[in-house]
Amino acid sequence: MSTATTPTAYNYKVVRQFAVMTVVWGIIGMALGVFLAAQLVWPALNFDLPWTSFGRLRPLHTNAVIFAFGGCALMGTSFYVVQRTSQTRLFSDSLASFVFWGWQAVIVAAVITLPLGLTSTKEYAELEWPIDLLITAVWVAYAVVFFGTIMKRKMKHIYVANWFYGAFIITIAVLHIVNNMAMPVSLFKSYSMYAGATDAMIQWWYGHNAVGFFLTAGFLGMMYYFVPKQTERPVYSYRLSIVHFWALIGLYIWAGPHHLHYTALPDWAQTLGMVMSLILLAPSWGGMINGMMTLSGAWHKLRTDPILRFLVVALAFYGMSTFEGPMMAIKTVNALSHYTDWTIGHVHAGALGWVAMISIGAVYHMLPKAFGREQMHSIGLINAHFWLATIGTVLYIVSMWVNGITQGLMWRAVNVDGTLTYSFVEALEASHPGYIVRMIGGLFFVIGMLLMGYNSWRTIRASKPAEAQAAAQIA
Ligand code: HEM
Ligand code: HEM
Repeated sequence: MSTATTPTAYNYKVVRQFAVMTVVWGIIGMALGVFLAAQLVWPALNFDLPWTSFGRLRPLHTNAVIFAFGGCALMGTSFYVVQRTSQTRLFSDSLASFVFWGWQAVIVAAVITLPLGLTSTKEYAELEWPIDLLITAVWVAYAVVFFGTIMKRKMKHIYVANWFYGAFIITIAVLHIVNNMAMPVSLFKSYSMYAGATDAMIQWWYGHNAVGFFLTAGFLGMMYYFVPKQTERPVYSYRLSIVHFWALIGLYIWAGPHHLHYTALPDWAQTLGMVMSLILLAPSWGGMINGMMTLSGAWHKLRTDPILRFLVVALAFYGMSTFEGPMMAIKTVNALSHYTDWTIGHVHAGALGWVAMISIGAVYHMLPKAFGREQMHSIGLINAHFWLATIGTVLYIVSMWVNGITQGLMWRAVNVDGTLTYSFVEALEASHPGYIVRMIGGLFFVIGMLLMGYNSWRTIRASKPAEAQAAAQIA
């Protein structure tokens, strides 16, 4: 709580809570991903029950990994970073605690309602209106704590990581409110306020900017603090960070229509979305290059530091997926990739390679510090985790590329008399080996997360309350 006397310690309690839940939700959400991958290999795993069917568990997976795992990682690191770079305690302890418990309540509500089939049907915004209201309340509290802390900072300067976290917080608030405007008909059913093509446009304006601001801007904030910290080098170019910040947030907002190519959306809007997506390559790579170049003169550290390896490989995957995305936004390429596993491969290049890897690296850096320990219990286990995660990600995305291009080509192949060369089932049969490889890749990734769980538990168990208290002192 902000008191008249200047607090002498950071609020690390909420950072510790979010760090632990990042690992817990990461394991649960990704294990669910492996189960879904197994259902696509062995459909019998749907068990003929509605609440264990693929259609209901898939949104549970996306909500668990994006909002539970990703959300806890973003909230935990932003609270850690904003305090340290502002040299002051969080604006309000009680509001911060509300943010933590409120967010966990949202996730538990998702875990209950989604398998029951209670959904607004909007992708990545499936939760019904009472939960949406809770999200709004938690988000407002989050914004007050974050910006309140910036307001009472001890230094003049606002460090660039906070710019990215701040843009993420403001934009997600706007997206969430506009896309979820709905008319409730009962406690668990509502209808969108928008109709037809307008509804689709609003949904993908939301959907793409959820990628741009939830899965990108916030994690770039993470990158701007943890990469320089772990390398012990200043950011390569402060000027580049500001230029790519404004370019990124100015451009992302326009790219949503690339999700609606060849639909009832007006053609000019589709073309605009395509062009803006192509231009988006520049600020995306600006961020990637700035992160990578921060390692100038420190590349040798990669040999001995697996945490840095997580952070750098995350940047490499960020660069790769933000090259692939603009290519897929070109209408003729999208005619091949849309509806195929190529999209799923692209998603997980970003989700596993970028979002999960940068979060894992950041948590390995932050968790011991928040618990007053020098470092994690075992560096060897972090190294093993790194290799499992990297190999798992590569297996996942390569198998989905092969599947996606195979499916796209088989669906469009025609005989000389104009009939289809392949039936849908033949394309599905050809995809089966890829589904097995993806499941194995996912399993690798989850085993790595379990190692992280064990390593975190051993680190936390070794922490003494006095040590943790001493570590939180404002220097
Ligand atoms: C072990 C790790 C993971 C596995 C095995 C896995 C598996 C899956 C599977 C099987 C699907 C459904 C694909 C389909 O419908 O054909 C899926 C969808 C999805 N997953 Fe994952 N996943 C994992 C991790 C993650 C993470 C960490 C994130 C985000 C941070 C993520 C985000 C998504 C999204 C956004 C979709 C929906 C994609 C779309 O609609 O195009 N996944 N995942
Ligand atoms: C410059 C950056 C990017 C551009 C231009 C871009 C473009 C695209 C395109 C064209 C699609 C396919 C749309 C379709 O055919 O339905 C797509 C899907 C997707 N992308 Fe990206 N992408 C970018 C970066 C990323 C990153 C970094 C992530 C994740 C962290 C990501 C996550 C997704 C997701 C989740 C979908 C699937 C949405 C759905 O249909 O459910 N993208 N993206």
